[in-house]
Amino acid sequence: MKILLTGGSGQLGQEIIKYKPKGVEIFNPSRNILDLSDYMACKKIVEDHKPDWVVNCGAYTQVEEAEKNIQLSHKINSYAPAAFTEAINRLNSNLLHISTDFVFDGNQNFPYSENQNTNPISQYGASKALGEELIKNKIVDIEKATILRTSWLISPRGKNFILTMLKLHSEKDILKVVSDQIGCPTSAGDLAKVCWKIIKLKKKKKLPFILHWCDAGVTSWFDIAVAVGEIAKELDLNKKEAIIFPINTSEYPTSAKRPKYSILNTRKTSQLLEVQPNHWRKNLRNILIEFKNLKKFK
Ligand SMILES: NC(=O)c1ccc[n+]([C@@H]2O[C@H](COP(=O)([O-])OP(=O)(O)OC[C@H]3O[C@@H](n4cnc5c(N)ncnc54)[C@H](OP(=O)(O)O)[C@@H]3O)[C@@H](O)[C@H]2O)c1
Repeated sequence: MKILLTGGSGQLGQEIIKYKPKGVEIFNPSRNILDLSDYMACKKIVEDHKPDWVVNCGAYTQVEEAEKNIQLSHKINSYAPAAFTEAINRLNSNLLHISTDFVFDGNQNFPYSENQNTNPISQYGASKALGEELIKNKIVDIEKATILRTSWLISPRGKNFILTMLKLHSEKDILKVVSDQIGCPTSAGDLAKVCWKIIKLKKKKKLPFILHWCDAGVTSWFDIAVAVGEIAKELDLNKKEAIIFPINTSEYPTSAKRPKYSILNTRKTSQLLEVQPNHWRKNLRNILIEFKNLKKFK
């Protein structure tokens, strides 16, 4: 089986490569080979390589910058998925596209299900929501495309909240972290395993067009920051942990608005794929252990 993977250098892309099953060939073009903001190049690369699957993990993920770089973020997050959809239609290939909890407005206090209406409140969210819509509008055989929404990705590599907090705990005595945005982190490793399971299962059975996946549990950035401090100290990654004060979103102004609540309901995915999500704190611990091991060999 041939896979065209975008975003292979990102958090999720690296885990997809790490968990590649035997017998699968991955073509993972870097940004120099494939610029996702180039619509025609996105179509051509699929037509040239004729993969069985396009796994689209590449994205413009800088939520703050997306408020200014609206055109670029939309080219990458909306029009690249549209180009991939047009190309797979012709080849009868499949598309697995990764999307986000930020397509929702966060104005509810119970988990979002797959079929709820999207209502993004940021440019990043809007660009991802449009990406989903364009796939839906362009796909000829709906069976050939899957959108997998996830939230708050964490991994031992790249740029993410837990690695930022790890550093801040070692440098500062006091930190202030937002406690009124409720969501759940997702282990990029576990998400990658879910991606491979979707690809495997789609040979045998029908799956819904949209699926949700995140770790188990409900938390805030504040709670995650506290957990990073505790676990890092326990693992001897940091000698000390900072005292953390919870603050409101209004006390940490940002250009992009973020959903107040963005838990994704994963029950359907869990049942269909026969996988149970691990609790986020368990995954966080495992990621920090992996980070420690990676540091040892650097
Ligand atoms: N991060 C999160 O918290 C989060 C939450 C929910 C959903 N998601 C979604 O999950 C997916 C994976 O996210 P991630 O955290 O793994 O992303 P990431 O670590 O930020 O990586 C983004 C990837 O996209 C590539 N990319 C960006 N612009 C490109 C361009 N113009 N041409 C070619 N490649 C380009 C990057 O390549 P370079 O290395 O060259 O920059 C990188 O490989 C994305 O669809 C994202 O929207 C992420």
